[in-house]
Amino acid sequence: MKNEGIEGMERFVSPDKGRGLQALRHFAVGELVFACPSYSSVLTENERGAHCDLCFTRREDLFKCGKCKQAFYCNVDCQRGDWSMHKLECVAMCAYGENWCPSETVRLVARIIMKQRVTTERTPSERLLLFSEFEAHLDKMDSEKDELNQTDIAALHHFYSKHISNLPDEQALTELFAQVNCNGFTIEDEELSHLGSAVFPDVALMNHSCSPNVIVTYKGTVAEVRAVQEINPGDEIFNSYIDLLYPTEDRKERLLDSYFFTCQCTECTSKSKDKEKMEILKLSSPSEPEEIQSMVYYAKNVIEEFRRAKHYKNILFL
Ligand SMILES: C[S@@+](CC[C@H](N)C(=O)[O-])C[C@H]1O[C@@H](n2cnc3c(N)ncnc32)[C@H](O)[C@@H]1O
Ligand SMILES: [Zn+2]
Ligand SMILES: [Zn+2]
Ligand SMILES: [Zn+2]
Repeated sequence: MKNEGIEGMERFVSPDKGRGLQALRHFAVGELVFACPSYSSVLTENERGAHCDLCFTRREDLFKCGKCKQAFYCNVDCQRGDWSMHKLECVAMCAYGENWCPSETVRLVARIIMKQRVTTERTPSERLLLFSEFEAHLDKMDSEKDELNQTDIAALHHFYSKHISNLPDEQALTELFAQVNCNGFTIEDEELSHLGSAVFPDVALMNHSCSPNVIVTYKGTVAEVRAVQEINPGDEIFNSYIDLLYPTEDRKERLLDSYFFTCQCTECTSKSKDKEKMEILKLSSPSEPEEIQSMVYYAKNVIEEFRRAKHYKNILFL
């Protein structure tokens, strides 16, 4: 692919934050800053049958893979498009039966290894940052993280070594898992249900702020980055890596543990919203089982109504 970069954006070196993304023009609130197809993605096991394994579209009339009967597709094109990845799991899922249990990260890493083997050029997901350039922070791994990493590597060997010839060596796999942990994304639908995991290299170029100027949403397996604050030429583009409902100390701990940096954004310095956040957390302290049951019942009904309305809207506008 000829690299034309991303219109209105530039990769730059952000003081104390490594590489980052900078705006070259103005973006209004709500404007699409850029979109990025996934480099690699995997549908979560719980959503099998409800969403297409390739494009993540939710529909009732998916058809299943005739061999394993566990992967579902919109049509033959989606099935063909996914085969180079699904073949890693198709036979293995049948062979392992109930013992098939690789984690989602392991499933994603297996796909990334295959993707790297068939990719010879910069992909449309890597206009400003290549997957191979991802930060791994190997020097900051403690013994606990090392152990988790070893467990993932063992699972990859156990479930996939028959289907991926010559798996990378121990050191390369350690780096690969560390890169995915530090740069990977989880995909949610509009109801915030977890749909799967993926890597979007250009989206991973954005550094974190607890007062971000963009948010990332998903259309199938395409990430859309939209402005939530006005962005001016020269501004750094900041995304949030974490749930911002938590007070400063909790956020800092989480960022240091998962992403190895101490956040010094305006929100972490001023702590201006901590009091409100503490109140919200207090309100969300454990509820009675009956209360939870009634909330789940209510939420399920609302979701069902929402889906029905969306379905009719789609039919009307076809
Ligand atoms: C998804 S990557 C972002 C791109 C990264 N700067 C790079 O050069 O590859 C996440 C890493 O960026 C750095 N980072 C992100 N936000 C930061 C911030 N607010 N302050 C310091 N470092 C940050 C940390 O090293 C973190 O592990
Ligand atoms: Zn599909
Ligand atoms: Zn199959
Ligand atoms: Zn912060």
